[in-house]
Amino acid sequence: MRFRTILFLAVLATVAGCGDKAKQEAPAAQQPPAATAAANDHAADLTACRTAVGRLGQTLRGALQESIAANGAIGALEVCNVEALPLTKTISTEEGVIIGRTSLQVRNPANAPDDWERARLTEFATRKAAGEGADALETWEVVDDAAGHRTFRYLKAIVTAPMCLQCHGPELATDVAAAVKKLYPDDAATGFAVGDLRGAFTVSKPLS
Ligand code: HEC
Repeated sequence: MRFRTILFLAVLATVAGCGDKAKQEAPAAQQPPAATAAANDHAADLTACRTAVGRLGQTLRGALQESIAANGAIGALEVCNVEALPLTKTISTEEGVIIGRTSLQVRNPANAPDDWERARLTEFATRKAAGEGADALETWEVVDDAAGHRTFRYLKAIVTAPMCLQCHGPELATDVAAAVKKLYPDDAATGFAVGDLRGAFTVSKPLS
């Protein structure tokens, strides 16, 4: 298992919200048949992953918005660099999962996708091109990790919103571009337009 600098934490915890309610709430729309079958056996795992993603997405967006309003994009770089870690840690602990972000075009090389993530991200691009709503793209599968442990893996698309363009768009402000270049010399996460697939939340949940 890799360590993702900002948004990736291994945590063992009791899973909140995985009771009967969780089972009822796990729809299987837009999934291929194999994934649907897996979901029927893992409704609670799916719900835990969705909950963690929802909370992390909201938390990060909120922190970014606040910081941009107070200090501009340049100040908000700090949120991505420093603040995201404790925020993510709390959510991971409370939901009992390992959560991170990844993309086919990463800013931080530590977020680079592994083979499973890369294949699923490529499928997301195909599904979006075929007309599926980008915001709803998700997929999951039970896989064995490198050590042979059964793991529930979940991926949910992240779509580029207007506020993201300040740091991921085709043209960054000069000071932002310079700061990004300094922190991330191999940055490949610019040039996105509103509505583009920016990447995905990636969640792993150890099964036993
Ligand atoms: C203030 C600048 C800033 C804004 C605004 C911003 N990001 Fe980022 N983003 C970053 C930085 C810096 C990183 C690298 C974080 C790290 O080191 O893990 C990053 C990383 C990411 C990653 C992880 C993959 C990678 O490239 O390393 C995703 C996905 C992402 N951003 C999506 C978004 C989305 C979607 C938005 C808008 C809702 C957004 N970002 C807004 C600066 C920003």
